Amino acid sequence: MSRKKIVAGNWKMNKDYLTGLELISEAVYMIKDELHREVTTVFATPYIHLSSIQKLIATESNFHVAAQNCHHEKAGAYTGEISAEMIKSVGVEYVIIGHSERREYQHEDSKLLAKKVDIALENKLIPIFCIGEKLEERETEKHFSTVQSQLEESLFHLTNDQIKNIVLAYEPVWAIGTGKTASPEQAQEMHAFIRSVMAAKFSEEIAEDMSILYGGSCNPTNAKSLFSQKDIDGGLIGGASLKSRDFTDIHIAFNEL
Ligand code: PGA
Repeated sequence: MSRKKIVAGNWKMNKDYLTGLELISEAVYMIKDELHREVTTVFATPYIHLSSIQKLIATESNFHVAAQNCHHEKAGAYTGEISAEMIKSVGVEYVIIGHSERREYQHEDSKLLAKKVDIALENKLIPIFCIGEKLEERETEKHFSTVQSQLEESLFHLTNDQIKNIVLAYEPVWAIGTGKTASPEQAQEMHAFIRSVMAAKFSEEIAEDMSILYGGSCNPTNAKSLFSQKDIDGGLIGGASLKSRDFTDIHIAFNEL
């Protein structure tokens, strides 16, 4: 088995119902027309879009939908929350867990994220699990230990069979939405480190097969140099996923590799 190439667009809290559908229709059309490699596309949209978009792309084997979050409990009196089971029930296959914006603004810690990973897997959702250091952690040379702890605390309780269903996304917090990208060398160095951590805990084979995405100001200009790195298997794209041209061009970077 070889690793999957994945480009996932994280819309965050953007796009109303109609403009969201418009964006999907355009992006799917352009990507199908212009991309000549086997790449998995994932649209991580707000909850309001999930069901409609899932129906729209149901017959497209390379296109998938993700939720941006799920609750850690099965069901119950949690007003305003959405469960993994509900997400799965509309046919969605992926869920982002551990995005730095949720770690920061919703105070989600590693223990809680471990529960979210568990409930996502129980419901046969594929977690796109995000890790990444803050600027001060990089500046004080703590970036490797920070990322290692994030992996250990939320994923190391999983079995070898379970970990195979996880996609990782390395997103240095200082690069998210800032226009400041990690250099291809910095990103590759961290991706190789992440793979080595996974190999040591699980197995070489599992680590080799794992898709590790880069996120943080990835755009049409820098995508090719990032995706050409040996351990970078695609991207988790925020801002640039909101424009069909840019999102398509990021995919097309794979054509030239
Ligand atoms: P960005 O966001 O591409 O806008 O930096 C990436 C992310 O937060 O997933």
